[in-house]
Amino acid sequence: MKFFVDTAEIDAIRELNDLGMVDGVTTNPSLIKKSGRDILEVTKEICSIVSGPVSAEVTAIDADQMITEGRKLREIADNIAVKVPLTWDGLKACKVLSDEGSMVNVTLCFSANQAVLAAKAGATFISPFVGRLDDINIDGMELIGDIRTIYDNYGFETQILAASIRSANHMKDCALIGADVATAPPAVIKAMASHVLTDKGLDQFLKDIAAANIKIV
Ligand code: E4P
Repeated sequence: MKFFVDTAEIDAIRELNDLGMVDGVTTNPSLIKKSGRDILEVTKEICSIVSGPVSAEVTAIDADQMITEGRKLREIADNIAVKVPLTWDGLKACKVLSDEGSMVNVTLCFSANQAVLAAKAGATFISPFVGRLDDINIDGMELIGDIRTIYDNYGFETQILAASIRSANHMKDCALIGADVATAPPAVIKAMASHVLTDKGLDQFLKDIAAANIKIV
């Protein structure tokens, strides 16, 4: 499973990228707002750090304007994936931009039917939002499984990019179900390294190192 990092924070992207944990980046208008920077400028900087796909989201809601914005966004770098919302206009824009050779990430997906439409419109990535479904007591991970089954039934090549990931458990479940990619905030990726028994075990080893004065160099 590929890891995308869901942030526009440069320091966090750099840290994870240096560790080989970043196969791509996703941003959205809320994350750009949080960064406090100009969208074109911050996206360009992210693209200079990360070689994998960097999703940048359009701001328009009508197809023609989304297409215009998508063309502008993809001028930033070769690894831009234009992000469009899963609306009828978004699907139109997806089809045009995909046919022109752009990577397209169709976002705000909350149903398997929406995912089928995105695949038929040529999406490179479909982004089902796990956490936001969980928030309204619908099993977000079940949606990832349904889309996996449908895409495999018919050989759709659109990659399932599990989004709105809120916990390390979500990451494990995505990997078990067969999501192609999971995009998560830096803190969630770091939380995957934590285990209470690792901490407890290390604590004991440190006590024994001190007690026996064990030295290597
Ligand atoms: C994905 O591309 C979205 O930017 C993101 O995963 C949304 O996550 P949230 O529901 O935690 O805002």
